[in-house]
Amino acid sequence: MAKITGKTLMRKWRSFWLSKDHKEIKGASLIPADNSVLFTTAGMQPLIPYLSGKPHPLGRRLFDIQPCLRTNDIDEVGDNRHHTMFFMLGNWSVGDYFKREAITWSYEYLTDPKWLGIPKEKLAVTVFAGDETVPRDETSAKLWKECGIPENHIFFFPKKDNWWEIGGGVGLCGPDTEIFYDTGKPACSEHCDPSCDCGKWVEIWNNVFMEFNVEKVGAPITRLPQKNVDTGMGLERIECVLNGYDSTFRNECFEQPIKTLENLSGKQFDFNNEFGKSFCIICDHIRAAVFLLGDVQPTTPSNVGQGYVLRRLIRRATNCARKLGIDGKRIVDVAKDYIDYYREDFEHFEKTENFILDEIKKEVERFSHAIESGIKEFNRVVSGLKAGDCIDGKDAFRLFDTFGFPLDLTVDMAKDLGIGVDKAGFEARFAEHQQMSRDNSGAMFKGGVAEAHSEEEQAKLRALHSATHLLHASLRKVLGNYVEQRGSNITPERLRFDFVCDHKMTPEEIKAVEDLVNDAIKRDLPITCEEMTVDEAKNSGAIGLFDDKYGDKVTVYTMGDVSKEICCGPHASHTGELGEFKILKEESSSSGVRRIKAILK
Ligand code: ALA
Repeated sequence: MAKITGKTLMRKWRSFWLSKDHKEIKGASLIPADNSVLFTTAGMQPLIPYLSGKPHPLGRRLFDIQPCLRTNDIDEVGDNRHHTMFFMLGNWSVGDYFKREAITWSYEYLTDPKWLGIPKEKLAVTVFAGDETVPRDETSAKLWKECGIPENHIFFFPKKDNWWEIGGGVGLCGPDTEIFYDTGKPACSEHCDPSCDCGKWVEIWNNVFMEFNVEKVGAPITRLPQKNVDTGMGLERIECVLNGYDSTFRNECFEQPIKTLENLSGKQFDFNNEFGKSFCIICDHIRAAVFLLGDVQPTTPSNVGQGYVLRRLIRRATNCARKLGIDGKRIVDVAKDYIDYYREDFEHFEKTENFILDEIKKEVERFSHAIESGIKEFNRVVSGLKAGDCIDGKDAFRLFDTFGFPLDLTVDMAKDLGIGVDKAGFEARFAEHQQMSRDNSGAMFKGGVAEAHSEEEQAKLRALHSATHLLHASLRKVLGNYVEQRGSNITPERLRFDFVCDHKMTPEEIKAVEDLVNDAIKRDLPITCEEMTVDEAKNSGAIGLFDDKYGDKVTVYTMGDVSKEICCGPHASHTGELGEFKILKEESSSSGVRRIKAILK
C-alpha cells in the first residue's frame, strides 16, 4: 500500500462523514468548556450535554478531529506509541442512528478502497459479552457478520474490555465494539486474540453504544432518554499501522521535527540508542505545547493546573535537548516545524504563531535562569569533593527540590568532574518528601500529635484525616480528575483542604461533594493500609503525584472502592466512625487553588 499520511487521513475522515450527512464540529479546544477535567481527553467530552439529551445546534449527526491531551501516559512517551497530545477522529449519533449504521459505516470506511481499503482479513472485532445488568451484544456481532467479518474474528469480551465509561463508574456509559488491525506479527500463542498485548492486534477504532447513565456513585445503571453512538479513532495509531511503521514517531508530522533535531545535534535518530527517547520526548512535548499555546483558549506556563502541565512539557523537552547537546532555546525551531506542518488545517496558527514561539522561548529562558542559580549551588556542593567522591543524596535532592535541577543534570555535571551521585539517597529523600507533601496532615501527625493531644482529640484528628481523603476523592469525582491536593491542615475541630480548581464551586457541586462523602460514611467502608512500591501504588490507581519512578516503598490507604491514596496516616478504622460531614466554607486560596473548610458532626 502507498504511504498514507495523517493529513490524508484527516481529509478522508471529513469527506466520508460529510457524505453520510454529518456536520463537522470545528474549533474544538483542548480545554474543556465545562471545567469538568483539566484537558479534553476524548472527543465525546464536549458533547456530554448533548449525549444526555440537550439538542445540538448542528443536529444529530456530528463528527470532528479533536486534539486530546492525556498526562497519565507521560512517562511512557518515548516508547513506540504513547503521546501526551494526540488527535481523536470521532463521529456521533446524538439520538439518531444506532448499531446498524454505526457498524456498517465503520466497515465501509475501513475496507472500501475509496476510503482506507484495508483487506477485511486484517480486521477483528470485539463485542460486549454481557453481565447481570446489560445483555450480551448479539446485535453487534450479527451486524459484523453481515458485513463480512468471519465468525472467528468476532470476539465476546467482558466489561473490562468492552464497556466504555468516562471514569470512576459514574456518568454516560455503554457497551462498545472495538476494531483491531492485524499487524502481521506471528501470533504469540494459540490463545493470541485482540485482548492480548503482544503487538499482533492493535486497536484502531472504538464504537461506543452510549445508551446508559450512572447518576452517582453506587446508583443503579439507568437508560438515557436517547440512544447515542460515540466513536473514537486515534489518528497517530491508524497512520502508523496502515503504513506498517514500527512506531508512531515515524508518522509524517514528526519527520521535519526529527530532521531539525538531527541537524542541530549532529546525531542520527535511532530508537535503539541512548538518544532515541530524548528525540521522541522533544517531538511529543513540543507538539503538545504548540497546541496548548495555539488553542482557541490558550494556556500559558504557570505553576497551577493546565499551565503547570505546559511548563513541565516545555522544561522536560528543554532538558532532553540538553542531553542531545542542543541549546534549549532551539526547541523553538521544532515548534516552528509543527506550526508549518499544521498551518493549513488549523487556521488560527496564523494569528498565534508569534505568541506560541515567544511563550516557548520565554519559558526556556525562565528554566535556564532557575538552572543558573542551581549551577552556583552545584559548584558549592562539589567544591569540597574530588574525583572518585560522591554527591550526597540530600544535596542532590536539595538541588532538585529548591533549584529545579533534574537529577540527570546533576549526574551529568558530576560525571564531567569524575564525581558520582548517591541516587539511592536521592530517591529515599524524594519518597519521604513525596509523602509529606502528599499529605501535610500526615506531616503534622508525625510532628508530635500524640504528645500534644488527648486520646479523644487524636480520635477526632484521625476521623478528620480520613474525611479529608474522602473529600479529595469526591472532589475528583464531581469536578474532574485534575483536582489535586495543594495543602491540608487538620485541627481537632475542623479540616482544611486546598486543591487545584479554577472556578468557585457552585452550590450544586458543593452539595454533590458532601453527598458523596456522607454516602461513603454511611456505607461504613473498611480503611486499610498497605506498603508497596511507587509503581505498584500507581498501578493500583492510588492518587498522589507520580513525577518520576522511584523504587522506595510508600504507604497506601484504601477506603472501600471510594479512595486510594498515598499517605502516612493515621486514620480511623472504618468510615462509619466519622459522623456527618459538612462543608462550612469554599473560598479562594490562591490563583487556581480553592480552599474548603469542613467539619464532622
Ligand atoms: N469515547 C470513546 C473512546 O475514547 C470513543 O474510546
